[in-house]
Amino acid sequence: MIPATEGHAHHVPPGREGHAHHVPPGRPLPQHMRAVVASRPGGPEVLTMTRRALPQPARGEALVRVVAAGVNRADLMQRAGDYPGAAAVADLGLEVSGVVVAAGPDVADDLLGREVCALLPGGGYAEYVAVRAAHLAPVPAGVSTVDAGGLMEAAATVWSNLYMPGKPEPGSWLLVHGGASGIGATAVQLAAAHGVRVATTVGSPDKARFVEELGADLVIDHRRQDFADELRDRGIRPAVVLDIVGADYLQRNLRVLDRGGRLVVIGHQSGSKAPIDLEPLLRNNLTLTGSGLRMRPDHEKDQIIADLVRHVWPLYESGAIVPTTHAALPLERAAEAHRLLEQSHHRGKVLLLADPGLPPTPES
Ligand SMILES: NC(=O)c1ccc[n+]([C@@H]2O[C@H](COP(=O)([O-])OP(=O)(O)OC[C@H]3O[C@@H](n4cnc5c(N)ncnc54)[C@H](OP(=O)(O)O)[C@@H]3O)[C@@H](O)[C@H]2O)c1
Repeated sequence: MIPATEGHAHHVPPGREGHAHHVPPGRPLPQHMRAVVASRPGGPEVLTMTRRALPQPARGEALVRVVAAGVNRADLMQRAGDYPGAAAVADLGLEVSGVVVAAGPDVADDLLGREVCALLPGGGYAEYVAVRAAHLAPVPAGVSTVDAGGLMEAAATVWSNLYMPGKPEPGSWLLVHGGASGIGATAVQLAAAHGVRVATTVGSPDKARFVEELGADLVIDHRRQDFADELRDRGIRPAVVLDIVGADYLQRNLRVLDRGGRLVVIGHQSGSKAPIDLEPLLRNNLTLTGSGLRMRPDHEKDQIIADLVRHVWPLYESGAIVPTTHAALPLERAAEAHRLLEQSHHRGKVLLLADPGLPPTPES
């Protein structure tokens, strides 16, 4: 949610409803735009650049000229035709940053020209995207508009799963699996900024160094070490586990939790089905939960984004947490961006640049 400027609300008075969408004076909007789509379900090679009609902002929506779009692991599943509840396989892209260039019939003009981040159900791999106005947030002061393209999906997922149901207490331990992922890098930093002690799993020494710099207290290389043994040997009992691995880790995640602990499953990269021994739940009064951001109803996302602006954006603005852009590639190199995520050598976020005026940054 974008805080309205003084004296303005986002929804115009009833008399203005139904008017055609308004655009600012200056650069005229094109009728068509470039977008990356998956031509059919398949590997990265199915991603192609196409020309599409410019989206029109409907009631309650704003049109954003995209500067950068975040690439998320869910995009890879959607491209492969393997994401339940996703938009059409063609409409990839769950988050962008950019500038508001037009507003729908009932959306106030004061959004026009604002630099924003946006959470989307799809369609972000494009030069323009129409967004529910309540799913916009300002670019945090001090964060570049490019880096802002990778903030929303991870921040919304981490905040809604770790902090909205009841936050981990300062001094308690949080176990984050995949700490160098886009999601993990946000979770590690946010928890560390709140005084929570963070243990995290990663798959390589360079990822270990990366998460240490982000504030992790204990780093476990899951290719060489068993995280449950490592925690037990140090007497660490996490209050919360944030899991993206699923089946392979389910029983060990339950076993390591402290009494009253919470296992939050937000991904299942090793599979979604596993036998479960319920005994640890009873013995330790555990909670097993999870959620999928894209599947949440709009009113829940409205609340999550309002919370982010209030509680998380100030942490970006003070530098307590930072964006973690690993690479930013032009839109036409979307297939390469997907391969980067598939190979999993990246640390943090991979972005696509939609604005041809901006030079690409090389992969670091
Ligand atoms: N539920 C939701 O609302 C929601 C929203 C966004 C994302 N997610 C999920 O969150 C996960 C991360 O998403 P992302 O976009 O940030 O992806 P990403 O950057 O591609 O990260 C995937 C990570 O998983 C790690 N990993 C793979 N196997 C592992 C294992 N056995 N143990 C520990 N880590 C392992 C990889 O590291 P190594 O290769 O080094 O092991 C990599 O860092 C995905 O599963 C995604 O579906 C869920």
